[in-house]
Amino acid sequence: MKVNVVLGLQWGDEGKGKIVDVLTPAYSVIARFQGGPNAGHSLEFDDKKFVLHTIPSGIFHEKVTNIIGSGVVIDPVIFEEEVSQLKKLGVPVYERLMIAKRAHLILPTHRIIDAASEAAKGKTKIGSTLKGIGPAYMDKTGRNGLRVGDILSPAFKERYEALKQKHLEFLKQFDFEYNVADYEKQWLQSIEEVKKFTLIESEYVINEALAGSQKILAEGAQGSLLDIDFGSYPFVTSSNTVCAGVCTGLGIAPGKIGNVFGIFKAYCTRVGSGPFPTELNDDTGERLRRIGHEFGATTGRPRRTGWLDLVALKYAVMISGVTQLFITKADVLDTFDTVKVAVAYKINGKETQQLPFETNEPIEPVYKEFKGWKRSVAAMRKEEELPFELMTYIRFIEKETGVPIQIISVGSHREQTILRN
Ligand code: GDP
Ligand code: IMO
Ligand code: MG
Repeated sequence: MKVNVVLGLQWGDEGKGKIVDVLTPAYSVIARFQGGPNAGHSLEFDDKKFVLHTIPSGIFHEKVTNIIGSGVVIDPVIFEEEVSQLKKLGVPVYERLMIAKRAHLILPTHRIIDAASEAAKGKTKIGSTLKGIGPAYMDKTGRNGLRVGDILSPAFKERYEALKQKHLEFLKQFDFEYNVADYEKQWLQSIEEVKKFTLIESEYVINEALAGSQKILAEGAQGSLLDIDFGSYPFVTSSNTVCAGVCTGLGIAPGKIGNVFGIFKAYCTRVGSGPFPTELNDDTGERLRRIGHEFGATTGRPRRTGWLDLVALKYAVMISGVTQLFITKADVLDTFDTVKVAVAYKINGKETQQLPFETNEPIEPVYKEFKGWKRSVAAMRKEEELPFELMTYIRFIEKETGVPIQIISVGSHREQTILRN
């Protein structure tokens, strides 16, 4: 058996939560491998909407083990809030969820450092979700971090205090007011909640599941263009959001990767700062935001909107070896007369099909225009029902990327999903 992977191919919020929820019945294990509560994965079924931040999107299904893998960073307070909401809904969360001992903890002071360094950056800020992600991964790679397994150690409190003191020293360079005490009190209480879960050596659990022919789906957070190595640096998150992150975040060998499902919206969105070549700062962009309800699931911030960018999409497909594409939010384009797609960039008058290293230079997208379908697709459930114009758009993307589009999502509900072939 191999691990199949769900990845966002743009700047996050492609609809990973919805798609993982739809795919889960075919799997025994759903595992998050990177990121943390900067993620907001929305699921809709039975006329209810749920947003998950740390917990994998398979949690609502019976007989499925959900794993928070070792590449994830966890804020116990946010985690406890999620757990308590799931418990209210009657989800047997202690039975369905396990946490890797190697996953790192986000400390209250990581959040403060995130906020202080963003404030200090002023206009050049990343637009971080301020959940402490960057500072937590900095401590991980700096070999100072505290891991989930450490909470079981009698020396945990002492080690926590030592790291906190280091952070407080570091914070002296900033002119930034903060209060650690309130969040810290909650944080220490929430650690007790984390202890109620089965804490595992997830690399063994996952490799044993593979050896036992169990089907595993790895759930990515964020998107390829936010990847720490291949995204629009420095306007990125602090983890590997591309397929390689599955190996390092779960402890599986590259040869154990099976299908790589790449999710993209029928257009583009981005929250936070950084380059966005096809961004529309006009009425069309506003329409995309309104119709697509493009407001962050984690921070509520309005998402920037623009046309689909094939230069960026092909790059993401290349880096992760995507084997199947899933398009989401096709319904959002229902009322548009024309739909545009960037097929190349013009930089300093020169046309290119590659993402440039230097992202400060003005990039002018070269567009191909498609006729809109001007019909609602939200109630359609079969490929044969879909408008010719939408299928033309889809076939063009398949031809350009060289990858088949296997799922067409036409709404936020579970049922609004068309599986091809
Ligand atoms: P994720 O972070 O990739 O899981 O995506 P988010 O949940 O942050 O954002 C995607 C948003 O689009 C959510 O509000 C979903 O409910 C919604 N959504 C997902 N697929 C579709 C779709 O095909 N059509 C529409 N209209 N909304 C969708
Ligand atoms: P999901 O999993 C969209 C963005 C932030 C910011 C940058 C760095 O829901 O797709 P960070 O908090 O990681 O330091 O922020 O990355 N960002 C996301 N944008 N969806 C997400 O997750 C994101 N997680 C981080 O807006 O620009
Ligand atoms: Mg999201």
